Amino acid sequence: MHCFGALFVSSSLALAATASPAKSTLKAAASPRYFAAAIGYGHLTNKTDHLFREIAVAEYGGLTPENEMKWEITEPEQGVFNFTQAEIIVSFAEAHDYVIRGHTLVWYSQLAPWVTEIPESEVLSAMQNHITTAMTHFKGRIYAWDVVNEGFNDDGTFRDNVFLENIGEDYFEIAYQTARKADPRAKLYYNDYNTEGVNNKSDSVLSLVKSLKSKGLIDGVGFQSHFIVGSVPNDLQANLQRFVDAGVEVAITELDIRANTPVNASVIAQHAKDFAFVVNACQAVKKCVGITTWGITDSYSWIPSTFPGQGYGLLWDDSYEKKPAYYTTLTALRT
Ligand code: XIL
Repeated sequence: MHCFGALFVSSSLALAATASPAKSTLKAAASPRYFAAAIGYGHLTNKTDHLFREIAVAEYGGLTPENEMKWEITEPEQGVFNFTQAEIIVSFAEAHDYVIRGHTLVWYSQLAPWVTEIPESEVLSAMQNHITTAMTHFKGRIYAWDVVNEGFNDDGTFRDNVFLENIGEDYFEIAYQTARKADPRAKLYYNDYNTEGVNNKSDSVLSLVKSLKSKGLIDGVGFQSHFIVGSVPNDLQANLQRFVDAGVEVAITELDIRANTPVNASVIAQHAKDFAFVVNACQAVKKCVGITTWGITDSYSWIPSTFPGQGYGLLWDDSYEKKPAYYTTLTALRT
């Protein structure tokens, strides 16, 4: 009797487990899309924080190095490359069969200071050398590269930076040509923020994308999606779709949804709804290939230091408790 009971219990558990074994984590529920996070190498190697790594492995199927592939880290002095930090991240990602997003090659921020100090005539070759060396180092290991990051102002004009100033508007096309040559199998992305809805900025990005696409130089557009609770653009899905209609894939690349802290119950509920809304928008677009949250836990989020008084952007709080948004995200991913 006892034995039969035990057998019955264990076989029904086994049945329950096989009924939808794959849907109990974010990455499994998201499949065939990927569900990824920005990860810093310091958190991976932190011996006193086992939970970070455990959650990363259990719940996520991809990553973007949060800072480790930025120019100031990978080429701090002209011609002196250092991929040590990036390799820690990429090796971890490979060991866990992750999708890896390379972030980023041409960006005005977190740029090594020397790039703004060299003679004007050297900026073009410095840009090309940077792209070629970084992409060749990681050739065949990176799913997609953010070749240019944040190249537009909110009004849709080109953002002023050392590349625009010294190379001119052609820097976009040259950057993508160089990237295509360096690793022809990597997907080449343009990545930006405040482009998630239809507006002047996303209109300009779309024009650039159409022009690059007609030359076979771009494969995808990343929508950073650093949102504020209650302010996710209603036309997110329609906007993603118009990029897909232009012939590229799209991805949510840096998702977090912040609020003034401390948060109250209604903010927590809206935060949970907003995450589900973003997931649903991506899932409704056939070529929205994945979602990356900009971190895992609030304890390491960039938000409080960048937007003082704000936080609560991610799916785990700073005590590694899953938030309501974790559950709404999981549910939305499953449907
Ligand atoms: C942020 C990182 O999260 C911080 O650790 C760093 O100090 C600054 O950059 N858009 C981007 C990301 O493309 O690279 C930025 O990441 C957040 C905004």
